[in-house]
Amino acid sequence: MTDRYAVIGNPIEQSKSPLIHTAFAQVTGQDIEYTKVLGPLGGFAQAVDAFRAAGGRGMNVTAPFKLDAFAYATDLAPSAQMAGAVNAMKFEGDPVYAENFDGVGLVRDVVHNLGCALRGRRVLVLGAGGATRGALLPMLAEQPAELVIANRTVAKAEELAALGRQHQSGQVPLQGLGYAQLLGRPFDVVFNATSASLTAELPPLPDSVYAAGALAYDLTYGKGLTPFLQHAQRAGVQRLHDGVGMLAEQAAEAFAWWRGVRPDTRAVIAQLTVPLV
Ligand code: ATR
Repeated sequence: MTDRYAVIGNPIEQSKSPLIHTAFAQVTGQDIEYTKVLGPLGGFAQAVDAFRAAGGRGMNVTAPFKLDAFAYATDLAPSAQMAGAVNAMKFEGDPVYAENFDGVGLVRDVVHNLGCALRGRRVLVLGAGGATRGALLPMLAEQPAELVIANRTVAKAEELAALGRQHQSGQVPLQGLGYAQLLGRPFDVVFNATSASLTAELPPLPDSVYAAGALAYDLTYGKGLTPFLQHAQRAGVQRLHDGVGMLAEQAAEAFAWWRGVRPDTRAVIAQLTVPLV
């Protein structure tokens, strides 16, 4: 019997998850089928119920349903609890196990694929929404020299920093700031986790945030040189990356969770990479 999986979202046509998981299944020899489900707005639970009733074993969840999935799940992993959102579900009888692999996927991409250790580095994250929330603990686990969250709405950055301080097991200095307070403070790794790239906007970032040899990483995928990456390039940054590796790595985490075997992501990343320039 072929096991069935799917990604649910609205819209869903753009999703690369079927391509990624089908490639993973081929290289690992797993007998699965992976499809797209267009979830009706306001009808997430019914759509998932129907997929489970038809024998579905697991689902990835994308916009706008990550909070619906959080509410639907019966067993939330710490990653999902911390993120306040779910991006992968596993169905085993009645329980609905839920995870959020976005943060761990991001860190794996930076550390393993891009060869940029976060340990001992000065790390800056722009934005204090769901994406940053999910990435917080995986980043802190790498023991950076410091982690700064900068956000337009400063109070949200401060709240997230306080949450991170409560939950981290180590002693990483963690601060929430406004953009103006970044002046004169250089960082080794800068992540753009705002939604500004989706609307071609740029967070108000001083050129001086980039230390020599810094890496700039936009969590968006396939948007070319976003205003954030263009700004980094103008500021002299040479290591510019988008979220293609994060996309592949979060998928590999979900695949391993479902199937017990972790696929190599290199071929998928090569296939999906859209040149930045
Ligand atoms: P997500 O779940 O994708 O993180 P979100 O929770 O809506 O989305 O958060 C979006 C983030 O992008 C927020 O940090 C938001 O800043 P505010 O909290 O001040 O609203 C940030 N953001 C969106 N557009 C922005 C822009 N043009 N400039 C700077 N920050 C922006």
